[in-house]
Amino acid sequence: MNTETSKKLFEEAKKHIPGGVNSPVRAFKSVGGDPLFIKRGDGSRFWDVDRNEYIDYIGSWGPHLFGHNPSFIKDALLNALENGTSFGAPTAMEIEMARIITELVPSVQLVRMVNSGTEATMSAIRAARGYTGREKFIKFEGCYHGHADYFLIKAGSGALTLGVPTSPGVTKGNAADTLLADYNDIESVKKLVALNKNEIAAIIIEPIAGNMGVVKVKDEFIKELRAICNEEKIVLIFDEVMTGFRVAAGGAQEVLGIKPDLSTFGKIIGGGLPVGAFGGKREIMEKIAPSGPVYQAGTLSGNPLAMAAGFAALKHIKDNPNIYEALEEKSSYLENGFRKNLISVSKNYAMNRVGSMMCMFFTEETVNDFNAAVKSDTKTYGKYFHEMLKRGVYLAPAQFEAMFVSTAHSKEDLDKTISAHLESLKEV
Ligand SMILES: Cc1ncc(COP(=O)(O)O)c(C=O)c1O
Repeated sequence: MNTETSKKLFEEAKKHIPGGVNSPVRAFKSVGGDPLFIKRGDGSRFWDVDRNEYIDYIGSWGPHLFGHNPSFIKDALLNALENGTSFGAPTAMEIEMARIITELVPSVQLVRMVNSGTEATMSAIRAARGYTGREKFIKFEGCYHGHADYFLIKAGSGALTLGVPTSPGVTKGNAADTLLADYNDIESVKKLVALNKNEIAAIIIEPIAGNMGVVKVKDEFIKELRAICNEEKIVLIFDEVMTGFRVAAGGAQEVLGIKPDLSTFGKIIGGGLPVGAFGGKREIMEKIAPSGPVYQAGTLSGNPLAMAAGFAALKHIKDNPNIYEALEEKSSYLENGFRKNLISVSKNYAMNRVGSMMCMFFTEETVNDFNAAVKSDTKTYGKYFHEMLKRGVYLAPAQFEAMFVSTAHSKEDLDKTISAHLESLKEV
């Protein structure tokens, strides 16, 4: 595989950009080697600057539910571009966007558009704090909610009460209001709630986690979490930045049959452009400025190009509800292929899948939480990643990520991926 041009570009990029990339995981640090520079994407595939072709299972880390550059999003963007790029004043498309989100996700009564998933989650936490007048919140180990200071907390061993910063630059003060619980462990939540009575504004969770690999909440756990939030008047926030419009038109909350108080969105909601949103119960969302005192703003929020692309994506979902069946069919075909391969190499690696989000962990233990996920052999994942890449299959360059299937993946793509998987397993 010739990757000369990518290598040259990476050397050049490192002179001007920290680590040569604009988001850390793109740098291939956890799998070794240099990142590839991508030039063009179409459907299920993309091409690097050295003209190597890959079947892509990252889909820009989630947004590309329909593959790369679908014509209905491209046309919507070109149309919007005719009128200008940004006005800093309301546009009619923002109403269309809010309307379609509230139709597809019924727990969302009011919604505010922002520019990224991080903005969505940090604004949702602020809304919950403003609404409850409380300061602390609970997050779960292994869940990622973007890079706002108080989300970048990881528990020290056994620490259940107070967070400690794991990123330099996060102050102790910021960390102190973040309480850490264990995913799928309701006792860890009960303990924190009892220790911090009437002090917890919100519990934020990835209802189907995609940032420690793919891990689904247990039905009983999420029901109890909802009940605790009701009893203690804690705002339950579902971070659906990844799962929203991916696992179902109504997101993970539709799959689980549980309504959160607030939801956050990103990725698919922008049709490939930088967009996020947060929304939920009217009485909470009405606290947001200018209808209420909780300040939240954005120069480019509700940007016309971003709204055009995002609306085209959501409209396509609304008009084609059968896409989720098709995604399930493709994804289960891939999963079954992988499982057969594992049997033929006598491995019993954990494999979790919810709809078109899937992850194979290099551990034979069942993975229901972060502690189990981190038992994966990441070195072997790195080797596996490069073997797949050599065979033209582009996976996430890190073990603890989801593999995304899109509507554009064909049976031929899936078969090629399954063959590459078997050969790669044999190599590693
Ligand atoms: C569940 C979840 N929340 C929040 C974020 C942050 O979104 P962004 O990278 O758009 O800021 C991500 C990003 O991967 C995510 O997966």
